[in-house]
Amino acid sequence: MTTNDNTKNAKLGAVITGSARGIGAAIARRLAASGYGVSINYVSGEEKALKLVREIEAAGGRAFAYRADAGDYQQVKALVEETARRYDDIRIVVNNAGFSQHTTIDQMTVDDWNRAIAVNLSGAFYTVKAALPYLKELDWARIVNICSLRAMTGSNHGAHYAAAKSGLIGLTKSLALELAPAITANAISPGYTNTDMNAAALAKKGEAIRAMIPAKRVAEPGEIAALVAFLASEEAGYITGETINMNGGIYMR
Ligand SMILES: NC(=O)c1ccc[n+]([C@@H]2O[C@H](COP(=O)([O-])OP(=O)(O)OC[C@H]3O[C@@H](n4cnc5c(N)ncnc54)[C@H](OP(=O)(O)O)[C@@H]3O)[C@@H](O)[C@H]2O)c1
Repeated sequence: MTTNDNTKNAKLGAVITGSARGIGAAIARRLAASGYGVSINYVSGEEKALKLVREIEAAGGRAFAYRADAGDYQQVKALVEETARRYDDIRIVVNNAGFSQHTTIDQMTVDDWNRAIAVNLSGAFYTVKAALPYLKELDWARIVNICSLRAMTGSNHGAHYAAAKSGLIGLTKSLALELAPAITANAISPGYTNTDMNAAALAKKGEAIRAMIPAKRVAEPGEIAALVAFLASEEAGYITGETINMNGGIYMR
């Protein structure tokens, strides 16, 4: 459905992959507070997804929980179509689902490599491919990909993750070129952020990690979500194909 009515626009849908916890959950809260109907996507964390749906609904927002593996096109397509069915249309796609695995090239299996690429990179293509017919119906729409500092620095314990996140930058630029001007595509590269993904590392060597970061702390998920909300807004229409680093300055070290 195409509409230029602003009130109506605020009632559209946003697909956020991997949004039951961590950065994705913060993004879902933020976009729901802006009036978007949000999909709370998970693979194993159904309880957390349902809890977040209740939280968003209690705050007056609209949300539903949906299990879909970001590394599987048919499941992602079903997630996107369910989002479009529940809300009037889809204006925002946030590719956030991701995981890291601590392994060296020597230890990495071919299956490890393929799984990391499937979830962290192919998943973003799958979501966009499935959502494109909906995004194209609107006068403006937004794609935001959650990348990583590792795309820029590489990794000595997760080459598959770093390669997937680097690929996400190329995908972001290509989408920006192909889909301009109505649809923008941008990426955010967080550094250390306070989520489950980093819990073990922060528990073990949090003090040393914080000391390395010029900001002297890790990011909170809500800080990443605030930047997503801006890039997903109408007023960010002149920013496209960018990857914004958000790492407290650690990349300068
Ligand atoms: N935390 C950091 O320091 C950091 C830094 C740079 C980039 N990032 C990126 O930020 C994004 C979010 O990370 P996070 O720190 O919030 O991670 P997290 O706390 O581990 O949460 C990951 C979320 O993604 C979901 N997920 C994982 N694999 C999935 C799959 N195959 N299909 C669908 N959903 C899946 C999880 O679902 P379940 O709850 O069902 O498991 C969970 O909701 C990731 O792309 C990550 O690479 C994080």
